[in-house]
Amino acid sequence: VTGASRGIGRGIAHRLARQGYGLTITSRTESDLVALAAGLIACGAPQVVYRAANMANPDELGDLVGVHGATFGTMDALIVNAGVGTAGSIGEFDLGRLDRLIGVNFTAGFVLMQGSLPLLRAAAAADRDRGAKIVALSSITGVYSEPELAAYGATKAALLSLVETLNLEESGNGVTASAVAPAFVNTDMTAYVADRVPADTMITVDDVVSVVDMLLGLSRHASITRVVMARSGTTGYCA
Ligand SMILES: NC(=O)c1ccc[n+]([C@@H]2O[C@H](COP(=O)([O-])OP(=O)(O)OC[C@H]3O[C@@H](n4cnc5c(N)ncnc54)[C@H](OP(=O)(O)O)[C@@H]3O)[C@@H](O)[C@H]2O)c1
Repeated sequence: VTGASRGIGRGIAHRLARQGYGLTITSRTESDLVALAAGLIACGAPQVVYRAANMANPDELGDLVGVHGATFGTMDALIVNAGVGTAGSIGEFDLGRLDRLIGVNFTAGFVLMQGSLPLLRAAAAADRDRGAKIVALSSITGVYSEPELAAYGATKAALLSLVETLNLEESGNGVTASAVAPAFVNTDMTAYVADRVPADTMITVDDVVSVVDMLLGLSRHASITRVVMARSGTTGYCA
């Protein structure tokens, strides 16, 4: 689980721990991961491996997959969750920020999927019913454009495309992929809009975790490429 230390990733890690998954967790801050690992073990995870890594640095990602493989041998599920949200109009957007956004939100997901495929294929070969799963956190802004979120939305649209192609290439062999594309979820990431979108009107972390849980429970014979989650009380075409 990437981006496991806070928000949606933390919620997913806890749900998986309660279900008895062994977990590899990552984010940038090792002290957060140490504390989280202890909490996940207390929740029921039989084994938790942690490794701090910056998703902006592809060189750190191979090591992450290597640590998981050395510990568990296969990978039942890859949760591509870490992401950053940066708002700004196209006219004013800083190109250095654009590079970082693409790196964390898209390139890291691509590199992790590519690096994890041998472990995912091994898990799929071992489980003829369930196969192996990839779930990526996209965003409703990758489906419906939103002013000020052009760069962020484009990275999330790219993830949707990546997941679709992965299904075309791998689902016949049991590795299926899904993208979850929510509107605003009540986490640290959305604190910047709290003055115009009250936190108690946002999708909850638990809602997103329940969708991920449903996707992970499917057999290898069904692939749901995307789940778009709107906020109640909106048109459904906005964050
Ligand atoms: N919240 C929303 O409204 C919303 C809506 C749609 C989609 N999403 C997507 O859902 C995912 C999770 O969002 P969230 O709301 O849970 O975010 P969050 O609360 O801000 O948590 C982000 C997580 O990603 C990690 N992270 C951030 N930058 C990183 C980097 N460069 N390298 C490694 N880890 C990094 C953070 O840990 P460190 O900072 O310690 O590294 C943290 O664990 C993201 O992909 C986001 O785009 C969120």
